[in-house]
Amino acid sequence: MFDLLSKITPAIILLDINMPEINGVEAIKILKSSPHYADIPVIFLTSINNKGSELEGLCLGAVDYITKPFEPLLLLKRVEIHLTIIKQRLKMEEQGKKLKNFNENLQKMVAEETEKVSKLQVSVLETVVDLVESRDDITGGHISRTMNWLKYLFSGLIETGAYADEIEDWDVDLVLQSSRLHDVGKISISDAILKKKGKLTEAEFEEMKTHTTIGASIIDRICDSLPKDNHQFMNQAKILALTHHEKWDGTGYPYGLAGEEIPLQGRLMAIADVYDALISERPYKSALSHEMAERIIIAGAGAHFDPRLVAAFQKVSWKFAQGLSSTALAASF
Ligand SMILES: [Fe+2]
Ligand SMILES: [Fe+2]
Repeated sequence: MFDLLSKITPAIILLDINMPEINGVEAIKILKSSPHYADIPVIFLTSINNKGSELEGLCLGAVDYITKPFEPLLLLKRVEIHLTIIKQRLKMEEQGKKLKNFNENLQKMVAEETEKVSKLQVSVLETVVDLVESRDDITGGHISRTMNWLKYLFSGLIETGAYADEIEDWDVDLVLQSSRLHDVGKISISDAILKKKGKLTEAEFEEMKTHTTIGASIIDRICDSLPKDNHQFMNQAKILALTHHEKWDGTGYPYGLAGEEIPLQGRLMAIADVYDALISERPYKSALSHEMAERIIIAGAGAHFDPRLVAAFQKVSWKFAQGLSSTALAASF
């Protein structure tokens, strides 16, 4: 039998149990354990007429069990039924393969489209950041520098172990990148206020304060049009935009939050933001040295700033000094 099988692959096998060389039970075990023959349906055709043998045959993988003497027409009909089942199975397997290919192609197309959308989002984000920078040209470079100061503060947190549990699950790079939108609300502040060469009046300062809440609602609007997997980035951006002017003692804006009511991101950003304002030249003030800015930040511990974050700032203050001198060096070229 197996010699014949090596030459042809039958559509169906009719197998007796009592055979001279190998009995049917052993033969079906060999057939079903072979990757080449396992799918060929086997019908037992035997003179053994007992329920135990029939059950054993079906359990070993036979599709039918017919006892001798048999009615030839009935046997042909049953073979025909099993051949129809095979045809249908092969057809379904073929359709399954086509469906699998279709799904793979679809997934590839979706991945390509997602990549395109993702690139588009990055370029839109870059454009918005550029827009904020160009709108606020007096503080040129503020966005990229504060992101850098924020990065140093994160290293200070790691060195001091402050808020280790809280930042353990953070995607720090995502927070850093999202910080670039912290002043996005300045897009809506009038030039007369944004570029004023002098101290703001009380009313002007009130308008300036709205860059926090307006920034948050701009981010909300961007978020509505983005797929859900980008929301984490925008959520971080919103927290930073909304809370970077809150103060530890509750005298900040827009909500007057105090202490740990202010999200950690906002408390970190407050130090990075103020440090950058201090070391930058503005129409109404000259740039302070790193040492002077450092003194002001330290003096603000417990009032403007979270004392534990100020301690982290002190730990890595040398990085700020180094970063500032390399920025100044770059600006002088
Ligand atoms: Fe701001
Ligand atoms: Fe800022």
